[in-house]
Amino acid sequence: MLNFDLHNPTRIVFGAKTVSRLDELVPAGARVLILYGGESARRNGTLAEVRAGLGQREVHEFGGIEPNPSYETLMEAVALIQRKGLNFLLAVGGGSVIDGTKFVAAAVDYPGDPWEIMESHGATVHRALPFGTVLTLPATGSEMNKGSVVSKKATKAKLVFASEHVFPRFSILDPTKTYSLPLPQVANGVVDAFTHVMEQYLTYPVDGRVQDRFAEGLLQTLVEIGAEVMAKPDNYDARANLMWTATLALNGLIVAGVPEDWSTHMIGHELTALHGIDHARTLAAVLPANLQVRREAKRAKLLQYAERIWNITEGSEDERIGIAITSTRVFFESLGVPTRLREYGLNAGHIDEVIAQLEAHGMTALGEHEDVTLAVSRQILEAAL
Ligand code: NZQ
Ligand code: ZN
Repeated sequence: MLNFDLHNPTRIVFGAKTVSRLDELVPAGARVLILYGGESARRNGTLAEVRAGLGQREVHEFGGIEPNPSYETLMEAVALIQRKGLNFLLAVGGGSVIDGTKFVAAAVDYPGDPWEIMESHGATVHRALPFGTVLTLPATGSEMNKGSVVSKKATKAKLVFASEHVFPRFSILDPTKTYSLPLPQVANGVVDAFTHVMEQYLTYPVDGRVQDRFAEGLLQTLVEIGAEVMAKPDNYDARANLMWTATLALNGLIVAGVPEDWSTHMIGHELTALHGIDHARTLAAVLPANLQVRREAKRAKLLQYAERIWNITEGSEDERIGIAITSTRVFFESLGVPTRLREYGLNAGHIDEVIAQLEAHGMTALGEHEDVTLAVSRQILEAAL
């Protein structure tokens, strides 16, 4: 097992009717900015509940944070906070709103050009405003981690930053808040959470036994509930299981003491930045291709995955691996998520630009062995067409 240092200070308040707990979770004299996305939080009543939960506190609102939040929009929130002297942020939404809020929290008192936060991947962040979240879309794990992904429209850059200073103080996870999600977003959540686990599990063995079994438990749960969460929006138990599984998939627990990959995500981010494809959908296309191209380096874990997740015990090693990769693809497709880039309108002619962006962002040695060079990324993209 590898060495690790695990610290997660985010308090999770889970369950139906928990938004009213805001009154005890937000400091009494806080001057609050609620940040949200488009109209979903207003339409499904969450914003009204949040306002009621905040009682007599001074409350301002900033809406319009888009999916794949942009630096340009977020800097407007920064200006509002500075103008009004606000001191506590509350994100109400999915990963985009929460990620955006993390950036805003770090940018408000940032001494230089805030885009440096992204270019330094968070290394230059030394403080941030405190914030909490009310999660409405189970997918990213942003509600209980220190990562954030922000895009700059001007340059089509989609970069990640991470900092101990941007763990949410608390996150409210009320599964009933997910009932209004369009089904494609629910499917995205399942695929994103599944891929998060795979990035931290499907590398090479280090005898991290409980980590492997945590990861496998999350994967098995996603496979088990995938159809249920899609079938009936108000199936509380299915939505509750998805919500907690997605949080646990990327809160630092399963990665402690094991190697991590993340090449699928880094390639996927470029596809979103260039072509606007939903985050999870880029992963659905890249992950199976990535496993296929790197099957030798990942052989031992692929065999374990085949047996423990898909119950594949017959056939040669290569056959078992092949069936496991196909099963992954079939699972994503069963949720209505296409797994071929051509189904998103891309062809071989689009690959050069993706490779150029990976190079521009320093993504030239990805993966658990840092051997996913631009040439390997090209092979993966070709296999994903
Ligand atoms: O904007 P509104 O109107 O709120 O609509 C949103 C949005 O259009 C809608 N939605 C959210 N909750 C809803 C709802 N609609 C109806 N009912 C509800 N309860 O869903 C749409 C997508 O929302 P978004 O927040 O963009 O989705 P998601 O949670 O999948 O977040 C994706 C972003 O997170 C980043 C991705 O790159 C992407 O930018 N990621 C963040 C990570 C992290 N911080 O750790 C890790 C991930 O790998 C990922 O990269
Ligand atoms: Zn993701």
